[in-house]
Amino acid sequence: MKLEDYLRDKARKIENTLEALLVPMGDIPPLLQEAMNYSVFAGGKRLRPILTLAAAEAVGGKGEDVIQAACAIELIHTYSLIHDDLPAMDDDDYRRGRLANHKVYGEALAILAGDALLTKAFEILASCHPAAGNDTVLRRVIGEVAAAAGPDGMVGGQTVDIISEGKNIDAATLHYIHRSKTGALLRVSVRTGALLSGAVPDSLAALTRYGEEFGLLFQITDDILDVVGDSAKMGKPVGADAKKAKATYPAVFGLDEARRAAAKARDRALGALESFGPDAQPLRLLVDFVLGRDN
Ligand code: IPE
Ligand code: IPE
Ligand code: MG
Ligand code: MG
Ligand code: MG
Repeated sequence: MKLEDYLRDKARKIENTLEALLVPMGDIPPLLQEAMNYSVFAGGKRLRPILTLAAAEAVGGKGEDVIQAACAIELIHTYSLIHDDLPAMDDDDYRRGRLANHKVYGEALAILAGDALLTKAFEILASCHPAAGNDTVLRRVIGEVAAAAGPDGMVGGQTVDIISEGKNIDAATLHYIHRSKTGALLRVSVRTGALLSGAVPDSLAALTRYGEEFGLLFQITDDILDVVGDSAKMGKPVGADAKKAKATYPAVFGLDEARRAAAKARDRALGALESFGPDAQPLRLLVDFVLGRDN
């Protein structure tokens, strides 16, 4: 299997489902709808929903049975990007290859579009029909996604990211930031696919370890790309972390050590999948895809 073909196929299905979920919305202010769609349909990599589909397949489920939940997670991710770019946060002008949401719609609409995507995501999640599970499983998933996005997860991590600007922080704090602001949502993307597909406890535990290592690997490479990447390819500014004296792996440990830490997380992520067969191959290939990415 070629990963590029797999990614293209999954991204297309995710794109279609997002359109079905967002475009025919009811009585909402057209400007709000426009601001939401502007960021959702800006060509993100769709890695989180792809992980959800791939995790479902790794435990014998079907991607199409979890695609609505996968798309809900992508909406949460998109909200986090809109808010992350706001002047009060990272103050970045470009995202996904176009002007940041607040540069087009203004700060108030950008905040509201983020709020709308976050809440819409839970409306979508609550209306999912788990194929392999039941409503108890779905309730668990909704709780886990909320925890991953909230103060115990992304919002907590974003908070420590912001208050650590310009400070000397220790390795434990850096690890907390990465695990929370980015790792939590990636981890729950994997768990959602597995849980909704009826994964047995051992498989769920292994996939959870995979998701955690993937999350760490992902944010370390994001930090590295902010130093050595090309903003045209990334669709967002580079050098932004140094400008704000952000707590990143390269800033705390240097580039070489950051690269070594990424390689170790890669090995642990692959190790977590040892007991799986060919159905987990997309998850395996995604690890090196993230490590070698340039966008
Ligand atoms: C960027 O995530 C934000 C981080 C958590 C580092 P992605 O690199 O997955 O962004 P998109 O979705 O492809 O735009
Ligand atoms: C953001 O991390 C993580 C989020 C929760 C959005 P970064 O601030 O490093 O993400 P980028 O580099 O702006 O995409
Ligand atoms: Mg940030
Ligand atoms: Mg940022
Ligand atoms: Mg970054």
